[in-house]
Amino acid sequence: MALQRTFSIIKPDATERNLTGAINAKLEGAGLRIVAQKRLHLTKAQAEKFYEVHRERPFYDELTSFMSSGPIVAQVLEGEDAIAKNREVMGATNPAEAAEGTIRKEFARSLGENSVHGSDAAETAAVEIAYFFSGLELVG
Ligand code: CMP
Repeated sequence: MALQRTFSIIKPDATERNLTGAINAKLEGAGLRIVAQKRLHLTKAQAEKFYEVHRERPFYDELTSFMSSGPIVAQVLEGEDAIAKNREVMGATNPAEAAEGTIRKEFARSLGENSVHGSDAAETAAVEIAYFFSGLELVG
């Protein structure tokens, strides 16, 4: 597998509890390199655009309200097989189902407030990275 990039968000429930460093330690410990990172406070409209694919889901309003309720940290992670590796270290979307040692098992509060987001495929990663970062901001 070639070197790959994926997009990651440390969500408001985690920034609120000062967990950015602890989560970054997990990511770096898994062999992922943080090649871009910035802290932002999204507007509701910006969160809605990011989660556009979920617009028809019943939890869309709850999700986008939460994602615009406090600061987030947007990141680009690089590594061998980075998309799958990040999803492994994040753990299952629902923390009740997440494996021991994963970010969500250790830190997530609930299905909605689950501490991190990670791209699910190469195409999504490219779109999500471009939504938050310019090429000049990716420093490998
Ligand atoms: P994420 O990886 O950011 O992608 C979409 C998010 O929707 C997901 O993580 C969850 O946090 C959230 N989500 C999924 N299902 C529900 C649900 N039933 N209620 C609230 N939020 C949900």
